[in-house]
This record gives sequence, structure tokens and C-alpha cells, in this order.
Amino acid sequence: MELFSGKTVVVSGGAEGIGFAIAQAVGREGMNVVITDISPEMLKTAETTLSEQGINVLAIKADARKERDWNQVANAAAETFGAIHALVNNAGVGGSGSTGPIEEHSADDWQWTIDVNLMGVVFGMKSIVPHIKTAGGGWIINVASMAGMSGVPYAGAYNATKLAVAGLSEGWSMELAPFGIHVAALCPGFVKTRIYLSDRVRPSEYDDSHRSLVTSDNDLDPEKMATGLSNEVKNGIDPHLLAERVIESLRAGDPYIFTHPSFRDGVRERYAMIDRCFENAANSPVVGKVDSLILNSDVFS
Ligand SMILES: NC(=O)c1ccc[n+]([C@@H]2O[C@H](COP(=O)([O-])OP(=O)(O)OC[C@H]3O[C@@H](n4cnc5c(N)ncnc54)[C@H](O)[C@@H]3O)[C@@H](O)[C@H]2O)c1
Repeated sequence: MELFSGKTVVVSGGAEGIGFAIAQAVGREGMNVVITDISPEMLKTAETTLSEQGINVLAIKADARKERDWNQVANAAAETFGAIHALVNNAGVGGSGSTGPIEEHSADDWQWTIDVNLMGVVFGMKSIVPHIKTAGGGWIINVASMAGMSGVPYAGAYNATKLAVAGLSEGWSMELAPFGIHVAALCPGFVKTRIYLSDRVRPSEYDDSHRSLVTSDNDLDPEKMATGLSNEVKNGIDPHLLAERVIESLRAGDPYIFTHPSFRDGVRERYAMIDRCFENAANSPVVGKVDSLILNSDVFS
């Protein structure tokens, strides 16, 4: 099936960074591109840039946290381009609002991060999937992160939402395959964007007056980590390179899109650690008893 040419994609958080780069790359492959974002100024600039490159673009101010906005985007995209074949669930926030020691992380920090990074993805799926089904199939990229591949200290809310998006994408991939819809979780390492400045788009309803970082001599010192993470992002890969990789990986049909092979050993170690814990369970006399209880249970007979 043709993935790009003549098809229509919706990209959330498409005004800048990774979302903009993917919108531009698939637009150059011949897709009609619908970009949405919470930031109207950046959205206008992005729309102008894409349209000057000859890409068919529709820009809509929409808040990924709001299901109503997603429904309006879906209707406008289908009305303008006739059908929707693809979705890039990209809008996300990070930086100081979603990282820090557990005791410093306010309920509002958690809520904002969950509302954008997790519920934004869920609402995107709910609104756009019916249109992709009607179109007879297509593809979806949910933007997770390498932080969706393992636990990350001092990154509680961000880590939780990215683990959720990676796991959900695996389930949705199985659920939507019968409809000809390919679902992939994009798990980049560090990419040079303004994500470490996400507080610029933090709505005022989430209080942020409590913020103060604890320092310590610990190797995992939170302040050093916060600075280290933003430096890693500043030195990250170019989003346009990531977008090229996304196109390559979509063509290959990968369920996970990776951009940083340097993280591979860490993921291997995590799976080896999990396997060791299973091995301990398999050798446990207690589990042996549980197994025989399950096998002797009426439920399974
Ligand atoms: N930059 C990295 O190193 C990196 C690594 C892994 C994953 N990611 C993920 O990539 C995605 C894009 O991030 P980025 O690095 O391009 O950051 P970015 O800050 O450059 O871009 C994020 C975009 O999302 C928009 N946005 C924020 N809240 C929104 C909302 N409520 N509704 C609609 N739009 C909203 C912003 O205005 C911005 O245009 C995020 O999901 C992020 O978690 C980034």
C-alpha cells in the first residue's frame, strides 16, 4: 500500500521540533499535512514554511489535551482533504515540569505531563483512528522516547507517560492490524529541540510555584541531571535526520522506531535483568506450589 503520496496525515505538536520535521519530511513525500499545535505563533510560521515548499498544509490551533479539539481537527482534515490515512501523535512536554525528585514533583506537574503526553495520545487515537479505518488503512506513529524503554531516575512523570505510550502502541498495533493500520512507537534518544523549555507552553491552570531543585553529592544529583539532560538535548541529533529515519522505518514496517543505537546495550541489560528475575521465579519453591495450585484449579479444567 502507498504510505505517503496523495495521502493525508495529522501531526500534533507540528509547529516545531520533531513534529515539524516529520510533517516536512512526509509532506515532501507527497502527503497532505495537517499540523496542530497549542502555540499559534509557531504554528503560523510552520504553515508558511511548509506551504512555501509546495506542501499542501492545513494548520489548526488545537490543544492535544482536549478531546473536543481533536474531534474538530479530524472533521476539518477530512473535509479539506477528503480522508485521513495517518497520524503522528507527537505533542509532548518535558523539562523541569515533568522531571525531578519524587518529593518535589507536584500533583500539577504530574497532571500536566499526563494530560499532554498520555491523554493527548489517547484522544488522538480516539478521534483519528475511525477516519483511518474508513480510508481502508494507513499508519500511526505514537511518539514515546527512550524513556519509554526503561525506568529513568528523576524523570517520574515523563518516564511514566512514555512507558505508557510505548506499551499502548504495542496493544494498538495488534488491535488495528486487522484494519490495515500499522502502529509504531517512535523512541528517540536526545534530539535537538526546545523540549527542555516546555514550561513555555504550560497552561496557567497547572500551578508551578513550588519548584526548587534539591542538590546532593549523589551521582544521580537531580540538579546535575536536569542540566545534563538539557545539555544532551542541545547536543542531540537534528530533528530532520530523525524524520528521515522515520520514513525509512515506516517503509520497513518496524513496530518500534529507534534513532540511537547507542542505547541498545542498556535495553538489552534491562531485558536480561527481567529474564533473571523470571529465572528466580521459575526456580522458586513457592512459585512451584502456586503453579501446581493453578494447574489443579477447577477454572482451568
Ligand atoms: N527532544 C528530545 O530529545 C526527545 C526525545 C524523545 C522523545 N521526544 C518526544 O518528542 C515529542 C516532540 O518533542 P520535541 O522534542 O519536538 O519538543 P518541542 O518542545 O520542540 O515540540 C513540542 C511541540 O508540542 C507542542 N505542544 C505542547 N503542548 C501541547 C498541547 N497541549 N497541545 C498541542 N501541542 C502542544 C509545542 O508547542 C511544540 O510545538 C514529544 O512527545 C517528546 O516527548 C523528544
